[in-house]
Amino acid sequence: MEFSFDKEKNKEKIEIFRMFVEQNKEDKGALMPVLQEAQIIFGYLPLEMLQMISKILFVPMSEIYGVATFYSQFSFIPKGDNIISICLGTACYVKGATIILEEIENQLGIKAGNTTPDLKFSIDSTRCLGDCSLAPVILINENVYAKVKKENVKEILQKYRDEV
Ligand code: FES
Repeated sequence: MEFSFDKEKNKEKIEIFRMFVEQNKEDKGALMPVLQEAQIIFGYLPLEMLQMISKILFVPMSEIYGVATFYSQFSFIPKGDNIISICLGTACYVKGATIILEEIENQLGIKAGNTTPDLKFSIDSTRCLGDCSLAPVILINENVYAKVKKENVKEILQKYRDEV
């Protein structure tokens, strides 16, 4: 899935990031902290920023990709405005969490770990949220949904679709 990186919208962040890379360029071990900084600033690693890193640090893209794909803290996919976390802990699993996950994936047209092209939703799975008596549980941003049924998924998502 291709996501376009809006340079105009990210103008300030790009400048802050460029300064960080410049400040660290003499450091031999700069790649890791620079990637971490990009992840923090942008929430993922935009291709354009990886190209900037490559240019300023004189590190080939292949090496950057090698490091970025090795560590799970880095993502090449931006997060959506609404993060859906589905608990796949034992209690939720037994109560049908995978059916709920499947329904959310169908409704949004993406698989877990991905973001919708309009950047409205991301789907993640999580371990036990500590509310096992309410299984199956999903979390959307800060909101907890308990005892979720497949037939309720559409309605739950609609609330977030309608948000401007
Ligand atoms: S297993 Fe889902 S809240 Fe505990």
